[in-house]
Amino acid sequence: MSFTDPPLSAARTSDERILILDFGSQYAQLIARRVREQHVYCEIVRHDISADRIREHRPRGLILSGGPASVYDVGAPQCDPRLFELGIPVLGICYGMQLACATLGGHVENAPAREYGRARCKITSHEELLAGLPDEIDVWMSHGDQVSRVSDDFVPLAHTSTCPITAVRHRRLPVFGIQFHPEVTHTPLGSTILHNFLTLTCGCAGTWRLGDFARETIQAVRQRVGSRRVICGLSGGVDSSVTAALLYQAIGPQLSCILVDNGLLRKNEAAGVISEFSNHFRTDLHVVAGEAKFLAALAGIREPQEKRRRIGHAFIECFKEEATKISDAHFLAQGTLYPDVIESGAAANGPAATIKLHHNVGGLPEELGFELIEPLRDLFKDEVRRLGLELGLPDDLVWRHPFPGPGLAVRCLGEVTKPRLDILREADAIVVEEIKAAGLYRETSQSFAVLLPVQSVGVMGDARTYEDAIAVRSVNTDDFMTADWSRLPYDVLARISTRIINEVKGVNRVCYDISSKPPATIEWE
Ligand code: XMP
Repeated sequence: MSFTDPPLSAARTSDERILILDFGSQYAQLIARRVREQHVYCEIVRHDISADRIREHRPRGLILSGGPASVYDVGAPQCDPRLFELGIPVLGICYGMQLACATLGGHVENAPAREYGRARCKITSHEELLAGLPDEIDVWMSHGDQVSRVSDDFVPLAHTSTCPITAVRHRRLPVFGIQFHPEVTHTPLGSTILHNFLTLTCGCAGTWRLGDFARETIQAVRQRVGSRRVICGLSGGVDSSVTAALLYQAIGPQLSCILVDNGLLRKNEAAGVISEFSNHFRTDLHVVAGEAKFLAALAGIREPQEKRRRIGHAFIECFKEEATKISDAHFLAQGTLYPDVIESGAAANGPAATIKLHHNVGGLPEELGFELIEPLRDLFKDEVRRLGLELGLPDDLVWRHPFPGPGLAVRCLGEVTKPRLDILREADAIVVEEIKAAGLYRETSQSFAVLLPVQSVGVMGDARTYEDAIAVRSVNTDDFMTADWSRLPYDVLARISTRIINEVKGVNRVCYDISSKPPATIEWE
């Protein structure tokens, strides 16, 4: 993971702010979500942020994340040692604890046995950080090193059978450390520990609310935009819809939306977006009828990356052509989310985060001379969904499964033609309908149909058929980096299969994809 510099949002959101210093942990984002779940605003910053910069941001507390390095290694990520003297409470987690102890008078060693997984932790001091916990708790460990000794400046608070100092506090400074990970669900009482740190140590009251965030962002957008015009590309997805809804609340008639109907959208998707953004939110909506252009660009193309390249290219042409008709546009709005900002390592006050692939507008802002507006760049996906609901977007849109920018083209294996897309669109709609009807749409992360470039023999009535095969894909995942196939009930699979074969002309076989990612991917192309 890479890092953001301290935050763009410095001027707003909440007086109660926690900074999470990232030492390369796979869990830094999870820590941030857990803190925000307690209604305390937090941001992830680089591990080497200076003590002066920290002071400028006036955080109520600092969390030092875990990380894969060993503290004494050459080049291991360090923090500014002066941060411990700022009087701001510090909680070091795993590597963060080791670093705090190594800096303030402790010794870190390779553990006798690397410890991964559940452990029983015996608590010897129930004050402050570990207040309200039983004498023994389950914790999740993931470390090779551990703190082996601490000076008299520290008080050990807990241990496990292999880790003599599992939790610790400094006598003089408001510095705590825990070797285990309170942010993962495998530490069932982890949220109590974070709560104790946030409330008892940092004195946070938990005042951060999404509604406040929305009001402040709307106000900030209004100020920045003034009387100028903003263009927002709509894709049918959650992020761009919430971005548009928020901008609409901020600047109403100064917002122009562009929907490029590329002919590769799901069934009724374009119509839904058009109705939402012209009837409910009465935006100046420009719909580009791009189907013919996209299909022409895709004719004869089978190779997935070439499909993507051509679609990206056609999108930029359509979008640009429409955008240049909106002569007074000054800004381009994008639904960049916090994870994109973190992953791209974008500096907060500097250039914008890498443009999300699925917006397919790479290069557009500069080319057209737009300034970027990214009102969601401080939010996680689940927060964006809740914000969407607060802004009045319908459930159906807010909870829609993610959909790739190249759309059905990468689910139509082999050549992309209108008849094949129509078959896929119908089959896909049945998959989604049945999963929704079974109450499983919110439980699965992405469920869809794939049209295979394969015909097989079947029999319908007395006649032999030789028709297309559809693969059904449904996965569960937290982050889309890894995924497992959904254990859909047989009954649901049976209904999907029967309906597709009966209702979609040209399909006589349905298969269920039981591959996990890795080694497979979620999409087939
Ligand atoms: P894979 O197939 O790589 O997908 O396991 C992970 C997530 O990314 C989405 N995806 C894309 N999104 N443009 C996008 O905007 C693309 O070209 C693309 N390819 C895959 C996929 O739907 C899943 O959510």
